[in-house]
Amino acid sequence: MKKVNVALIGTGWAGAMHARSYQKVTGRLCSLKTVCSLEPNLEEFAFKWNFESFTNSYEKVLKDPLIDVIDIVTPPNLHEEMVKQALKAGKHVICEKPLTGSFDKSSGKKMLKDAEQKLKEIQAEIEKSGKILCYAENWIYSPPFMRAVELIEKKKTVVPLIYGQTGHKGSHAKHAAYWKANGGGTLIRQGSHPIAAAIYLKKKELEAREERFGIQSVFCDASCITKEWSEQEKGALHTSSFDVEDWAQVVITFSDGTKATIMSGDMLLGQIYNRMEVFGNDSVYQINMTPNNLLETYMANDTGIEQEELMEKSEGNTGWQHTLVIEDVIRGYAGQLQDFMECIAYGRKPQSDFALARDTLKVIYAAYQSAEEERKIILENRKE
Ligand SMILES: NC(=O)c1ccc[n+]([C@@H]2O[C@H](COP(=O)([O-])OP(=O)(O)OC[C@H]3O[C@@H](n4cnc5c(N)ncnc54)[C@H](O)[C@@H]3O)[C@@H](O)[C@H]2O)c1
Repeated sequence: MKKVNVALIGTGWAGAMHARSYQKVTGRLCSLKTVCSLEPNLEEFAFKWNFESFTNSYEKVLKDPLIDVIDIVTPPNLHEEMVKQALKAGKHVICEKPLTGSFDKSSGKKMLKDAEQKLKEIQAEIEKSGKILCYAENWIYSPPFMRAVELIEKKKTVVPLIYGQTGHKGSHAKHAAYWKANGGGTLIRQGSHPIAAAIYLKKKELEAREERFGIQSVFCDASCITKEWSEQEKGALHTSSFDVEDWAQVVITFSDGTKATIMSGDMLLGQIYNRMEVFGNDSVYQINMTPNNLLETYMANDTGIEQEELMEKSEGNTGWQHTLVIEDVIRGYAGQLQDFMECIAYGRKPQSDFALARDTLKVIYAAYQSAEEERKIILENRKE
């Protein structure tokens, strides 16, 4: 079998996580052909992660006939154009979240329409090209999440309530403060993960019981709680906002009347929170991606581990910590690339696909409209 030749675009935090995760793909499925970014340390990155070549020209990657799949891990406002160009060039595509967005902040209604239009255009390109679009939503591939879904399917559990929580003490990235860079604030940057996971889980649950899946409505409150706070009031928080929200709470109602409640926030001190609770009619699931208790450590001091980060977004390594263990696996980054490589090699559909990226984005922009208009946004009609 021919190996899948990969081009990775972007070598920031997420690009490094993709590069690290490719090393775990089993079955000799892929070959790391090239890596592309605008970083001064690109050569070092390429060497560290075993890429055959490196370039700072996306054009060059598009024209390379050897490349089978382009993995886009660049800032969100570049995704749509890069995805379309890759499909037009006859490449399969992997794209980080969000697939696209509405980057000119305007009314919620207008932004939902804008996002929907962009999604239609991407869908048309996918159909025209006949290529596979893989949506890099790592939560779908997190082993505890996958196991919970598997058990729910086997038991044919009815799930009335999903509760997802994500966030940390605030992003250090300057661009996080700007709508034009991310298409929103914490809701799109972080909330996209539990929203996608809730949609995926609900779809699987309904499919297992041969029921129809749909998203009936979205209701949201979102605001920038720390907008006017002084540095002293912020304390250890790193929240920073030019025109984005730092907190959002979304209620999704599915076609069967059941709910998912999602909270994302930039003022959650302590560590990085990625968890989901699923309440079924015969079972309950507590899915702890981070923090989890695979390894709890107590450090009296930092000696010897000064360069380590035991837990992302904590205040240092000392004291008790929920220390990260094989984070790339537990948080689903490795699993997603395994699925994507298999899909491209054998021509099958990924678990996290265009439909999931589309539904997630529709919920997010319906949520922004809901928060602005202070009302529920109906996405599909349903008889009460
Ligand atoms: N799944 C997750 O848990 C997760 C976590 C963080 C970020 N992300 C996503 O990953 C993406 C990147 O985030 P990040 O935090 O790594 O960002 P970053 O700003 O740290 O890195 C972006 C990279 O893109 C490169 N780049 C920018 N413009 C380019 C161009 N024209 N051609 C080639 N390379 C270009 C930059 O040089 C840089 O290496 C975003 O979509 C973000 O939403 C996902």
